[in-house]
Amino acid sequence: MSSTTTNTARNDVAPIPLIEKPSRTHTPVPAGPPDGSTAASHAASPGGASKTACIRTFGCQMNVHDSDRMRRMILDAGYAEVGAYEDADLVVLNTCYVRENAVDRVRGHLGELNRLKREGQVKKIALTGCIGAAEESRQLKRQYNIDLVLGTHNTYELAEFVGLPGMEETHTPELPGTEGEHAAFVTIMTGCNYQCSYCVVPSVRGRMACRPMENVLEEVRRLVGSGTRYVTLLGQTVDAWRDPEGSGKRFYNLLERVAEEAARVWFTTSHPSNMEDRTLKLIGERDTIVGKLHLPVQSGSDRMLKAMHRGYKSDRYRRKIEVFREAVPEGTLSTDIIVGHPGETEKDHEETLRLVEDCSFDSAYVFKFSPRSGTEAAGLAKLPGAVPEGVAQRRFLEVLRAIEHNAFQRNRRKIGSAEEIYVRHAKNGKARAIGETWSGHAVHVPTNAEPGRYVTAKIEDAGPHVLYAGEPVGQPR
Ligand code: 5AD
Ligand code: SF4
Repeated sequence: MSSTTTNTARNDVAPIPLIEKPSRTHTPVPAGPPDGSTAASHAASPGGASKTACIRTFGCQMNVHDSDRMRRMILDAGYAEVGAYEDADLVVLNTCYVRENAVDRVRGHLGELNRLKREGQVKKIALTGCIGAAEESRQLKRQYNIDLVLGTHNTYELAEFVGLPGMEETHTPELPGTEGEHAAFVTIMTGCNYQCSYCVVPSVRGRMACRPMENVLEEVRRLVGSGTRYVTLLGQTVDAWRDPEGSGKRFYNLLERVAEEAARVWFTTSHPSNMEDRTLKLIGERDTIVGKLHLPVQSGSDRMLKAMHRGYKSDRYRRKIEVFREAVPEGTLSTDIIVGHPGETEKDHEETLRLVEDCSFDSAYVFKFSPRSGTEAAGLAKLPGAVPEGVAQRRFLEVLRAIEHNAFQRNRRKIGSAEEIYVRHAKNGKARAIGETWSGHAVHVPTNAEPGRYVTAKIEDAGPHVLYAGEPVGQPR
């Protein structure tokens, strides 16, 4: 395994949004299924529909969001969604390309699908997302007999593939969220203008394109009107958002407005160079903004930050964290850290450990450097400065342990406090539902409340990744 995270409650979903290509995204045209009958309900049962589809999502929240949009197309085309490959006529693998093992993982799934297809169970395979946008997808298509390969910029083509009449294209990222759900993602910008040495995102997702402010607000209002209680603003570098209509509005202004419209708001991912102090203060001032910040630092060494082209020094990052901690004293802070980037010395690593100590993160996603073809660092990895695997593994564990130790201490401080908890995932046969406090802690809570409701309960125990609440008091709201 070349990367992991200190957060446990994730399956294939990676830590932060990797963004999408700027142009030629789509707005779906309302459409019925090709046979002219009325569009299938999103709750269609596998037994009631003649065609079935399974969507598997790998990677970041952007991919989760893209999968939601593809799901809508598929359901509108009359498919019922199923959970197992064996039960599906159509399988969509929406993929991530950020780290090497992501491709290996997808290969495993493709091998299995290929077998099911030969046996006549699965009929069509679609590969979408970041691997679909990469050169490597051509070889995968041939090797695994894939029927449709789509990148991140042309997912609308899935509509035609599943038999919908067509999609109207636009040149701004107008990406509707999921209506009627308790929580929705709203993409405010796509792409990335940075060129971090190790990162494949700019080549698969393209340059930054921002969505107009009014357009975002309209969508937020529509979502809120249809029952959404939690809006997450998404972008690879959300805090780099600028109103493309020339109003001069920046991310701070947009967040301020969204926080007036929606009952609960969060945003991810931010870049330290774009994060303004006033935005950090706003998190503390507005009671509709969840008090958690995900701010990837990548390294604590200025030398490595320079090699990575991150555009800031470690002390500037520390200062941002001070502002956040002062503005949101109970808030939670998470980050991304890469160990073993080419050229990283023991001294660089110690500086990362020092920064981890200084910033007192509540959680972090720690990655071992993985060379991605086409990136600058992949070239460097072939030179003498490459960090041997054993060394990278040790550094990885050291950073992970430091983070976990700290997170555990911080979480234990919450024991005894009464918290208002937003239910994100229902109990569904398990002992506890999974929720989130206003300061962004993940909490397990024994309640039957539906997702989107709030319960109030006392924190009784804490682990490094999650808090455990007792029986809620009063009724869910
Ligand atoms: N190797 C290891 N980690 C990487 N990340 C991005 N590219 C690589 C790579 N080549 C990590 C960064 C980023 C997160 C989404 O994934 O920490 O913030
Ligand atoms: Fe990749 Fe850097 Fe852009 Fe993040 S900011 S998506 S790490 S290039």
